[in-house]
Amino acid sequence: MLKCFPNWYYLGKSNDTIFYESPSYPKEVDLLRVSRGRRTECGGPRSAFYHGFGGSGTVITIGVFLGTNSLPILGVGFLTSQKGHAVVTGGGSGIGRAIARTLAGEGWSVSVLDLSEERAQAVADEITRDGGTARGVACDLSTRDGAQGGVLKARSALGPVKALVNNVGIYPSGPFVEIKDQDWDLVMNVCLKSFLWCSQESLVDMMAQRSGKIVNMASIDGKTPGPGNAAYSAAKAGVISLTRSLAAEMAEFNINVNAVAPGWVETPNILKSDRWKEAIKRIPIGRLAKPEEIADAVSFLLSEKAVYITGEVLNINGGMLMD
Ligand SMILES: NC(=O)c1ccc[n+]([C@@H]2O[C@H](COP(=O)([O-])OP(=O)(O)OC[C@H]3O[C@@H](n4cnc5c(N)ncnc54)[C@H](O)[C@@H]3O)[C@@H](O)[C@H]2O)c1
Repeated sequence: MLKCFPNWYYLGKSNDTIFYESPSYPKEVDLLRVSRGRRTECGGPRSAFYHGFGGSGTVITIGVFLGTNSLPILGVGFLTSQKGHAVVTGGGSGIGRAIARTLAGEGWSVSVLDLSEERAQAVADEITRDGGTARGVACDLSTRDGAQGGVLKARSALGPVKALVNNVGIYPSGPFVEIKDQDWDLVMNVCLKSFLWCSQESLVDMMAQRSGKIVNMASIDGKTPGPGNAAYSAAKAGVISLTRSLAAEMAEFNINVNAVAPGWVETPNILKSDRWKEAIKRIPIGRLAKPEEIADAVSFLLSEKAVYITGEVLNINGGMLMD
């Protein structure tokens, strides 16, 4: 008998044994214990083996023996992690890296989308080394083709998108009167339009499942811009408005759309200039945020604890702006 079980949930691994379960699997077997390429005993009459490469997002063939004399039930499954597939854009550095690592630690399988293949892969490797599931996906999010292609690659590796974190951003600065069209357009494309493109592609899955979460990376600059970063601030103000529009439109599909608005965060780009030393004087908490603190807020907004929150823009700025 050949059966197809749509979702195998990756539970974790111990030595060379990998644990999976599937809600659609026959009731007699509530937990599968499978070892790479060979049959293994799993308590009483249950035993199983699989062929294929382990890890979430892998198509596998599974044979299960319900007893020594019974015929094997063969199944073909698509592995997903317990929480599902989360896509993190700009996940190769700074806040995105922290978000990818935090979500993976909580049981999400994570696609790390980044312009730099090396950085995306390095973060995916860190996660895999820690026992999580991740794929690095190199793509240029400044174009519609690049963004859609990135999400498509992620989906074919790790399954339907259940959560999207639009985090990617660039923040060039300079005098307003010197802004060139091409610089303005690049900031808009990366910081705002990629959010549209990646959301549209991910919403195909979310709307079909009538469930999903999107968290957008805004910034304190989208609310209170300073001098020298007009394009960035305009894009971040756009992110705030886009978040609210999308939240209103997606509520009927059970899809939550929220944003986080960090102040100053200890990321490589921020630390390489001295501007933070002046800024810190205006932060009541008296220090910059750690990337992991932004990741924790994102994780909360993606969690079941936040199901009644949508269209919200959460300040994470140490008290710099209270609105
Ligand atoms: N660092 C802060 O203090 C701070 C404060 C408020 C908001 N933010 C926002 O948080 C987000 C992350 O900031 P960060 O400081 O961690 O940034 P970062 O520069 O450390 O990381 C951004 C990543 O995005 C990638 N990237 C850039 N352009 C890309 C493109 N075209 N296609 C694909 N990937 C691309 C980069 O390769 C990099 O790995 C941004 O949206 C930023 O605006 C940061």
